[in-house]
Amino acid sequence: MKRILVTGGAGFIGSAFVRYLLREYPEVHVVVLDKLTYAGNLDNLREADPARHTFIRGDIADAAAVREAMHGCDAVVNFAAETHVDRSILGAADFLRTNVEGVYNILEAAKEQGTARVLLVSTDEVYGSIEQGSFKETDPLNPRNPYSAAKAGGELIGRSYFTTFGVPVIITRGSNTYGPYQYPEKVLPLFVTNAIDGEPLPLYKGGEHNVRDWLYVDDHCRGIDVALREGAPGEIYNIAGGNERENIALTRRILALTGRDESLIRLVADRPGHDRRYSIDAGKIRALGWKPLMDWDEGIVQTVRWYQDNEWWWRKIKSGEFRQYYERQYGNR
Ligand code: NAD
Ligand code: TYD
Repeated sequence: MKRILVTGGAGFIGSAFVRYLLREYPEVHVVVLDKLTYAGNLDNLREADPARHTFIRGDIADAAAVREAMHGCDAVVNFAAETHVDRSILGAADFLRTNVEGVYNILEAAKEQGTARVLLVSTDEVYGSIEQGSFKETDPLNPRNPYSAAKAGGELIGRSYFTTFGVPVIITRGSNTYGPYQYPEKVLPLFVTNAIDGEPLPLYKGGEHNVRDWLYVDDHCRGIDVALREGAPGEIYNIAGGNERENIALTRRILALTGRDESLIRLVADRPGHDRRYSIDAGKIRALGWKPLMDWDEGIVQTVRWYQDNEWWWRKIKSGEFRQYYERQYGNR
């Protein structure tokens, strides 16, 4: 692969994937197509060699923009999405546009141009919640919020393009991802940056014991790359961190690492339809040679330190559009 289109490459995981490709494959040129929504940020690409990547500002819901960006690319990896569950509860229209219609445009362009590989980055949230055990790729989908339902919609269109037209679609379902450059609406960077400022941490009451499986961002990127290169078209691969933690345990760890005490915890009204536990079995991608390399204890220490050392990155964000969102989301909770 010489030229790879990364849609959503200015977001959290997409930008880490761009850095990963440029680091691992000296012959690769990356094309980034990103709308730069509130979550997209060119600062996220500051470490990516400008000579080896081309940035295009554009919307995957715009078929012509997708077709043009994909021209001459051997592969496309789609990260572009509306990604925050709480925002999907406030309003789901953008989620359907980007996560379903945008994916359809990528598939159409790939069909027309005979693109050799189409990787759709998806999420473990499409399975819904599980009390015991872990979901396998063959388990039925049961998304329970507008975000995960829209992601499942994109996946299903993708699978239909493989079966009907032979478009070489591969799907990955990653677990909750953490690391540098994550937009501070997601729980981990939100709580770390609030704790640094001595601001309350809004923990969803009733969901304190809900469980997420934490995956370090570079491990997620490596998993996507393994699926892209070694995976078979038409197949789905779970990518799991193997670090299941209750939200309260995560919160306490963040407080300890930032030198704060539990008086900062504010129990606020729970998220409607809050999925209790996500858990996936990563045996299938492990059989291709992937395993997570970052240990949780080290990953969380490094990540908290990154937010402590890079206030310039998140302070700009938290003083912009974010403030209005924060007020709307937490103001009356
Ligand atoms: P993010 O919100 O940080 O970034 C999303 C990026 O997509 C932004 O750069 C944004 O500008 C861009 N974008 C949004 N709508 C677009 C559009 N219509 N056209 C072009 N660009 C658009 O998201 P993230 O956390 O990096 O997630 C990336 C992908 O990984 C998503 O598909 C998400 O569903 C999936 N995923 C995320 C996690 C997680 O824990 N963050 C876990 C599993 C899977
Ligand atoms: P989040 O980072 O939004 O990821 P997801 O819902 O996609 O897994 O939330 C992770 C967990 O943290 C989830 O159980 C909800 C909880 N949470 C809070 O308790 N308070 C918050 O302010 C946020 C954003 C999340």
